[in-house]
Amino acid sequence: MQVDLLAGTGYRPLVAPRPQPTILVFDSGLGGLTVLGRATRACPAAHIVYAADDAGFPYGRLSEEELVARVLAVMERLVARFHPDLAVIACNTASTLVLPALRARFAIPFVGTVPAIKPAAAATRSGLISVLATPGTVARDYTRELIETYAAGHHVTLVGATRLAGLAEQALKGETVDDAVLRAEIAPCFVETEGRRTDIVTLSCTHYPLLLERMKRLAPWPVEWIDPAPAIARRVADLLPAARDGSPVGLDATAVFTDGSGLTGPLRIALAGYGLAQVAIEPMPLAN
Ligand code: DGL
Repeated sequence: MQVDLLAGTGYRPLVAPRPQPTILVFDSGLGGLTVLGRATRACPAAHIVYAADDAGFPYGRLSEEELVARVLAVMERLVARFHPDLAVIACNTASTLVLPALRARFAIPFVGTVPAIKPAAAATRSGLISVLATPGTVARDYTRELIETYAAGHHVTLVGATRLAGLAEQALKGETVDDAVLRAEIAPCFVETEGRRTDIVTLSCTHYPLLLERMKRLAPWPVEWIDPAPAIARRVADLLPAARDGSPVGLDATAVFTDGSGLTGPLRIALAGYGLAQVAIEPMPLAN
């Protein structure tokens, strides 16, 4: 039998309020902001830390071995400093490779960002899908396995854009990005064969939605662009209900950069627009 010793005494047990959860959103640079925006809306009760490993940017040029070592080392530092309850790897280039190593090393849940090949295969009417990603992501076994599993009957074009992530960073820093350069980067996505045309392009680098409006304008014909950020935000909220349902924390997010030398005035304004009013530098030069 259970006896409530406080019954009738007027006392209530002291229960410490559960601290609001912390979510770490991680990318090589500014692309993860496209995920952060959605995660903030889906999880208003979470403290959000945005971490950009800009000292390592772009991840697309690192070998697989270098990338695994780099992400583990940076994550070690971030976990020790911020004690996140969950981390979002808002980077396809890293997620398609590093998630197993991260899950083996750290006890917190990791949510990754991988090419939206399954939804693209379900949505295409022409059967022609293009995966717009970094050269690293298109080279991954993981990406090829996704295609074999979910899009085997379709014509999938893998486009490893070499400059697009850098162009998205430039645009956010207030630098000019030429239409002709952008047009050339997305051109291989648009395939026409036997009277059929590409009708779906997956945005498989988190930087690319930053340029979406311009890419739509420059596309040779209209397509559906799939940005997985809303689905990622829903997954985070499901894994961390306290972040979704608790009392809102307000605009309380922190941005951390491992280099920080590219923090221009326009970029600071853009960061503030994402609720990132506090900016910290945690220097972690990339070892060569
Ligand atoms: N934002 C990263 C992604 O989603 C890539 C940019 C980079 O090459 O570092 O793949």
